[in-house]
Amino acid sequence: MSLLLFSVTILVLGPAVGVSGSIQDTPLPGSWELLLKNAGIASMHTAITHFNTAIFLDRTLVGPSQIALPKGHECRINPLEHDCTARSVMFDLGSNTVRPLDILTDTWCSSGQFFANGTMVQTGGDSNGFTKIRTLAPCPASGDCDWVESTIETLTDGRWYSTNQLLPEGSRQIVVGGRGVFTYEFVPKRFPGEGAFPLQLLVETNDGENDNYYPFVHLLPNGHLFIFANRDSILLDYTTGKVVQQFPTIPGEPRNYPLSGSSVLLPLSFADGYSTASVLICGGGQAGAFDNPNGFNLPASQTCGRLEVTTTTTRGAGSSNSEPQWLMETMPFRRVMGDMVLLPTGDVLLINGAQSGTAGWGKASNPALNPVRYQTFLHPAANRFQVLAPSTIPRVYHSTANLRPDGRILVAGSNTHQYDTFTGVFPTELRVEAFSPQYLSERYDFRRPQITAAPASITYGKDFAVTFSAPSRKDPFELHMASAPYTTHAYSQGQRLLILQVSDPVPVQQAGAGAAGASRFTVTVTAPPNANVAPPQYYMLFPMQAGTPGNAVWIQMV
Ligand SMILES: *[C@@H]1O[C@H](CO)[C@@H](O)[C@H](O)[C@H]1NC(C)=O
Repeated sequence: MSLLLFSVTILVLGPAVGVSGSIQDTPLPGSWELLLKNAGIASMHTAITHFNTAIFLDRTLVGPSQIALPKGHECRINPLEHDCTARSVMFDLGSNTVRPLDILTDTWCSSGQFFANGTMVQTGGDSNGFTKIRTLAPCPASGDCDWVESTIETLTDGRWYSTNQLLPEGSRQIVVGGRGVFTYEFVPKRFPGEGAFPLQLLVETNDGENDNYYPFVHLLPNGHLFIFANRDSILLDYTTGKVVQQFPTIPGEPRNYPLSGSSVLLPLSFADGYSTASVLICGGGQAGAFDNPNGFNLPASQTCGRLEVTTTTTRGAGSSNSEPQWLMETMPFRRVMGDMVLLPTGDVLLINGAQSGTAGWGKASNPALNPVRYQTFLHPAANRFQVLAPSTIPRVYHSTANLRPDGRILVAGSNTHQYDTFTGVFPTELRVEAFSPQYLSERYDFRRPQITAAPASITYGKDFAVTFSAPSRKDPFELHMASAPYTTHAYSQGQRLLILQVSDPVPVQQAGAGAAGASRFTVTVTAPPNANVAPPQYYMLFPMQAGTPGNAVWIQMV
């Protein structure tokens, strides 16, 4: 704790302050900003829409929040509750203000994802929300779009703690697993009356304290789903229901809820034709910690595992050498309930969570206040981790982190209590922050590119033009496309990042050329080849020069 306080002091006073001993004498990279003191709710589930707003979603059935329902909306009055407050809000990234939204049933520990047309689908929850399917078609910040709960369609199996993944058709998602449910199903159904399908991996990984909730699910370029639970993983051909590959068990601790680690699909790149994919899984908790009275004190996992998941296994006849192997790396801090955010650069930010304990109410201690940057493209033998500037606000159970189009990270939530509780070591957290990675430092503004023209939508495999301005032009120009995931319980469902093929920039003739300042350039960009690589949806298109991103524009992959 004293080290953390020290870092904060240094940040404020600068490096000139005399520092003795082993403490850092330069500020750690990155900076924090408080955006809003009271969002009305602690966001348990967060997603950023293509209207530059963020959906914050908590749950019902836990008493009043600090924000009233939208005008004219009816109170929730039923045998389970009598509540006239909102348990979901829309946060405007531009003005840092919130507008209440209306959820009808309990969304606790639910799952979700955007459809191709930008509509959010949110599935399941607890109690009266167990089988519910809700949608929200986003609107501009000034609009009044809200949740709509389907009265016709429901989930086959009641689900909480499950994971959604948008499928290549763009109009359908798969919903995988959850508490005590060892199946997957589709939303919407592929044909009338379709049920749920068994998934043996979920049965086999359901140990004494479960450790397989919120399985990590990634859609791979080969069209299969990588599914990871506890310490084991498979490739599922969801079209046939066949498991086509089984991967080695990851070394170390269990990685899924309640021993919540996190996972990302590392960036897919045009450089190899988007053919190879690797998964990174970081953190987790000590087996047994959830049921151990001292579990909140037990050290969390300190390792990440990286696995190339598109390597084909050829078993038998002495050919087991080709089995892909987990590359294990050691983080500078232990972390459970940490979020992993794909940065515009393709690096991964580890943020939020605790250094001891597990997910659950009051089951963690020693918050992990320092984010850490994982440098994806460094040589495997290098130390890929860089410690960044700490927050002063613990974000433990039920907190979230999402990439914004301006390159900052939106950080919200944290609630280690069943009911909103504003006392104790970890009070329910209503404050909203932004973390700025060092690439946003003014120091890099001299080369920061900005997009001045781009199409609203793009087509698979087709070329399109993007115009950008850049104060100085000598480094390679890149365009990266990032999805907007549904983030909850330390895992961002549907998160992916694509590195696009871009031609050499060509200067654009400008009237009054010769004036100092930014110059304009145009590039020809090749869209991703197919919907397995980039399922149709809205993406943030980030311009980049030498590791410095400009603001993203939203682009729809159709
Ligand atoms: C968006 O797509 C979903 C899935 O195809 C569909 O159910 C919904 O009606 C669409 N919404 C709009 C506003 O078109």
